[in-house]
Amino acid sequence: MNKQITVVKDIKEMSKLSDEIRKKGEVISFVPTMGYLHQGHISLINEGRKRGNKLVVSIYVNPTQFGPNEDLSRYPQDFEGDFKKCEDASVDIIFYPDNSQMYPDGYKTYVNVEDLTENLCGASRPGHFKGVTTIVAKLFNIVKPHIAIFGEKDFQQLAVIRQMINDLNMNIEIVGMPIFREDDGLAMSSRNAYLSPEERKGALILYKTIGLVKELCNNGENDASRILKQAEIFIKLEPLAVIDYLKICDSESLKDVDKVGEETLFALAVKIGRTRLIDNYLF
Ligand code: PAJ
Repeated sequence: MNKQITVVKDIKEMSKLSDEIRKKGEVISFVPTMGYLHQGHISLINEGRKRGNKLVVSIYVNPTQFGPNEDLSRYPQDFEGDFKKCEDASVDIIFYPDNSQMYPDGYKTYVNVEDLTENLCGASRPGHFKGVTTIVAKLFNIVKPHIAIFGEKDFQQLAVIRQMINDLNMNIEIVGMPIFREDDGLAMSSRNAYLSPEERKGALILYKTIGLVKELCNNGENDASRILKQAEIFIKLEPLAVIDYLKICDSESLKDVDKVGEETLFALAVKIGRTRLIDNYLF
């Protein structure tokens, strides 16, 4: 039988519950999400269950991490479906706050990680990471986890959060989990729900491009600009795809590099129709 899940919408109540759990000496693991859960989220949740004795999942579509022309108003939501998935995955608590709680009138404080947020998604989505670090810092203060789990699908997000934890002396262990993919290789994402059947096929171009880049490197190519040129030509063969960025960078500094070596990251963002998808590969 599934155990009972507690759904908490109120910040003070969540905070009090976490204090009580901590007082008992139990370990809180935490998976922050924007909901519309898929197997990628569930892989994080399963890891969280292994690592702690109370597992909290937050579901909150955070408006401050969306730009003015982005998909906030159409971001997919399905609380009932998410609840069922959390129940099946033995989640203990779902934290499900609303905007009036997270950003009440008069809200004025933001957390901003510099430098690491300049390249990749930070360059295409100005202000995005400021929204992410702000909400994650708030969630950490409310949920008070010992351990928090994030996906490497959002590689830059994970790097930025690790930096924030370090710089702001937050006593939380950050765990990164590998990219969870569909059988054909497409990285799972809540945004895949936007894709028409034809776009779904076109979306495979991201994974195929990773395959191409790996192959080029296996054949001895290590010049970043030549690899990126080949990748660009390849993606342009897919009529539904429009490149946002293609980058080869250092996986720690996230600065562009000229040569591929160990710990180099290949990262890409491609629009398929109106849907912007990201993927990456760590050499
Ligand atoms: P969301 O896109 O819902 O993702 C929640 C977590 O799931 C993130 O850590 C993300 O990297 C991870 N994830 C998503 N798809 C994955 C996949 N295919 N494989 C492995 N992990 C995957 O990321 C956010 O929400 C938000 O920015 C958030 C951190 C919740 C702040 O609002």
